Amino acid sequence: MTRTPVNVTVTGAAGQIGYALLFRIASGQLLGADVPVRLRLLEIPQAVKAAEGTAMELDDCAFPLLAGIDIFDDPTPAFEGANVALLVGARPRTKGMERGDLLEANGGIFKPQGQAINAGAADDIKVLVVGNPANTNALIAQRNAPDVPAERFTAMTRLDHNRALAQLSKKAGVSVADIKKMTIWGNHSATQYPDIFHAEIGGKNAAETVNDREWLENDFIPTVAKRGAAIIEARGASSAASAAGAAIDHVYTWVNGTPEGDWTSMAVPSDGSYGVPEGLISSFPVTCKDGRWEIVQGLEIDDFSRARIDASVNELAEERDAVRKLGLV
Ligand code: NAD
Ligand code: LMR
Repeated sequence: MTRTPVNVTVTGAAGQIGYALLFRIASGQLLGADVPVRLRLLEIPQAVKAAEGTAMELDDCAFPLLAGIDIFDDPTPAFEGANVALLVGARPRTKGMERGDLLEANGGIFKPQGQAINAGAADDIKVLVVGNPANTNALIAQRNAPDVPAERFTAMTRLDHNRALAQLSKKAGVSVADIKKMTIWGNHSATQYPDIFHAEIGGKNAAETVNDREWLENDFIPTVAKRGAAIIEARGASSAASAAGAAIDHVYTWVNGTPEGDWTSMAVPSDGSYGVPEGLISSFPVTCKDGRWEIVQGLEIDDFSRARIDASVNELAEERDAVRKLGLV
């Protein structure tokens, strides 16, 4: 092994997404088949033993790219030297908990994690927030890491993007590989807007190719937007392997680039593009090159899309205002 290992910090390592994610990172799927990684796992004290068990299994896989595993119950050392941080651990909503309570509980997690990233992460740190409410948790972490460039903080809507690809591929009877330029706008929540008006199937406009407004409005959009709840209903637990797969896709694309003639969806700090208030961490169509993302510019947004983007962005603004009131951002 000649390259210096990349430090990848994963929070919530003993959770169900963690279990689906860590083996894929260690096998080279996060960064590339020639990139050694050192895993730094963060858990709450009660779950450290379970994380140790997962680490034993990681050892037992004898992954050639896995340069080491360290386990922490304190964010400060966990993020020391981190090049990539996957913030998966979050406080789930429990019975009787209001939205404000959830934001506050997560503030207690993402504020100190942002501060720890600010204090000790590597200069090239890239952060992906998976733990819900992902966009606003990313905002909390970002605002508590003032010395880190804001664009290094992103939240995951790649799962929604992949869900949209799957639904469209079934409808059109094509492979997901034939679909390009899918977009998820807004929040990773039921208000998100999966947009096929700019997508292409085999080089032709996807909405025109499908040409089924009833399906678009009453099937495709709600199916994608409510897929997380449908998985919970069916599995009795929230999506894990697909969420881990999307996290792998998000970081791999960010680091290694989007293919020519395509883009992806990432929730990133808005620069005001498409009327999304500056600073909100909202999903956009983005291209990636040389480890940097850029929002795709110049797309025409009709009234139908505008109303849906605005609804989701308004929800993000409300979440931002709520965490602002709590003194978290
Ligand atoms: P889980 O409950 O199985 O695991 C979460 C883990 O996080 C637990 O092991 C817990 O001990 C740990 N944790 C809690 N607080 C922590 C802290 N302060 N520091 C470190 N670790 C901490 O949950 P899961 O199924 O793995 O899901 C994790 C999160 O991802 C949830 O918030 C879920 O809603 C979210 N999620 C997001 C998406 C998305 O597309 N953005 C998709 C699926 C799930
Ligand atoms: C998902 O989209 O599968 C999850 O965000 C659902 C959830 O609430 O954990």
